Amino acid sequence: MSTITSRFNLNGKVAIITGSSKGIGKSIARGLAENGAKVVISSRKQEAVDAVAAEFKNAGLEATGIQCHIGDAEQRKRLIDKTLETYGSIDILVNNAAINPYYGPLEGSDELVFDKIMEVNVKAPWILSNLALPHMKQQGAGSIINISSVEGLRPGFGLGLYSATKSALIMLTKNQAKEWGRHGVRANVICPGLIKTKFSEGLWADENLVNRFTKALPLQRIAAPEEMAGLVMLLASEAGSYMTGGVYTADGGYMVAG
Ligand SMILES: NC(=O)c1ccc[n+]([C@@H]2O[C@H](COP(=O)([O-])OP(=O)(O)OC[C@H]3O[C@@H](n4cnc5c(N)ncnc54)[C@H](OP(=O)(O)O)[C@@H]3O)[C@@H](O)[C@H]2O)c1
Repeated sequence: MSTITSRFNLNGKVAIITGSSKGIGKSIARGLAENGAKVVISSRKQEAVDAVAAEFKNAGLEATGIQCHIGDAEQRKRLIDKTLETYGSIDILVNNAAINPYYGPLEGSDELVFDKIMEVNVKAPWILSNLALPHMKQQGAGSIINISSVEGLRPGFGLGLYSATKSALIMLTKNQAKEWGRHGVRANVICPGLIKTKFSEGLWADENLVNRFTKALPLQRIAAPEEMAGLVMLLASEAGSYMTGGVYTADGGYMVAG
């Protein structure tokens, strides 16, 4: 008899996680692999993804490393093709990789930065999802999980362009859910708060800023990347079978803070 906890089981499922050589993406990949998925570790550097795949394999998990700069059309296609060649299907796509090349006022940036950040943070998840769709459609099931940010829900300071891309990703997810639900494909989006990774080092390395930030936060601390994985493990699995079009925060209470 199947149990409710068995619905979290991902045995036989194949998951691609972009930007999984470190940080949030790596912990998501680890969580999915521990629940039985075959995971594709991906980032811009082949050595980095090979190292993570080897680490996972040493721990008895199934993983392979496929290099992919998500801003490059050929590399996006290769990621999908190589995954199918290696594991034969795509059941879960986690669009996690993103960039924030600019910190400052909106009017202080230039068009090239705007184009680049849109390309990586919005266009790449859109196209990668489109490339995975035919395979998910064919099997009548699939789960797309996009990693946005609380910055996509509420403006911070100096992160305007990044915020705009993360908002666009939230609306992309809602449209994916609406258009693709009839094929059994679910799409959800996660909005992390401040997580201690390389990406956000400029923020958490500033002790004064962290103190001010955490004082106003209900949980009064920033998070470790591992704290983002559980939500993805739910959304990726049968345990989340009725969840689509959802926007989920994991932010220590940032969105309800005064
Ligand atoms: N950290 C936070 O506080 C925070 C808060 C809210 C949302 N987020 C979101 O969480 C996601 C992950 O961020 P993180 O904090 O875990 O960052 P991270 O620790 O810096 O890791 C970023 C990952 O993405 C890869 N990457 C960077 N650019 C890429 C590209 N163009 N193509 C493919 N891979 C690329 C990096 O590897 P390579 O260098 O080898 O390519 C690395 O594996 C992002 O979407 C970010 O916006 C983070």
